[in-house]
Amino acid sequence: MKHGCKVCMGEAVKAALRENECGAHVEEFGNCIGVVDGPVVYNVTEKAIFGCKEITPDGDEPVSYGPEVDVYWLPSWLRYAYHPDQLQGVNMIIAIDGPAASGKGTLAKRIAAHYEMQFLDTGALYRATARDLLATGGDLHDVERAVHAAQNIDAATLDDPHLRDPGIGEAASKVAPIPQVRAALLDYQRRFARHPNGAVLDGRDIGTVVCPQADVKLFIKADVEVRATRRFLELSQNGLEISERQVLQDLKQRDARDRERASSPLVAAADAHLLDTTNLDIEGSCSAAIRLIDAVFGGGGKTV
Ligand code: CDP
Repeated sequence: MKHGCKVCMGEAVKAALRENECGAHVEEFGNCIGVVDGPVVYNVTEKAIFGCKEITPDGDEPVSYGPEVDVYWLPSWLRYAYHPDQLQGVNMIIAIDGPAASGKGTLAKRIAAHYEMQFLDTGALYRATARDLLATGGDLHDVERAVHAAQNIDAATLDDPHLRDPGIGEAASKVAPIPQVRAALLDYQRRFARHPNGAVLDGRDIGTVVCPQADVKLFIKADVEVRATRRFLELSQNGLEISERQVLQDLKQRDARDRERASSPLVAAADAHLLDTTNLDIEGSCSAAIRLIDAVFGGGGKTV
């Protein structure tokens, strides 16, 4: 297969393209840039899928290239234009950490959809470990059985709605301090992070331990009372009968366990961007996060 062309957007990408080593001819069209190692340069008028062949030559109808030229659209979050030989394995990682009910899960899902990246809720792995351990009558402090549960999680069960039950969250935070459990879950998370479309992972230790090399790290925080109200509403909507006071108390205990444990405690990475969502709704949080990420990506991102 011949790799001849790359098309990217964004100022940083343009600059990188001009300096890149593939020696391709580079031309600009407004916001877009086209690169072909043949005589023709095309403009890309709208979002295309990585590897797609639908582009518009000089504003005409979209055309498909023949097999002699492959056209690559690099998502806007790719700041650098890579030589096609280097495209394999090039991906982007966004790490989102924060305490329980800070809004990081919803935010991470939205961010992944926005940038067309894969999403992993790493909390679900700890929840599933606890669920499976409890289901077999295991004790939450039984290291051997907890590790066995972590090593044998069935990925198909990670969207089980019961994982969100407060008791499971509580139990998850009791198996999570076990270093061998964390080690057992590490490989799965790191393999996921290497997804060629790029990956957004949310959790407690993504920016510090799982993906310290992440391209963007966000640490989401919010006052504990606000978080308790959010979690209370979420649980009530799901039909769970629990008082807001109880939710607040549970959150405080879980926060303490997550922050004070010796193994991969909840802490912001030194290079994380802090986002306080206390006074932001989900739309406001998303816009703020996307602005932050776009700024890191060099202005090459889509607008919200
Ligand atoms: O959704 P919420 O923030 O309530 O919790 P979660 O992200 O589903 O995580 C449940 C528990 O798993 C946390 O309280 C942590 O103890 C643990 N966890 C962890 O230790 N490391 C992660 N990367 C993710 C979750």
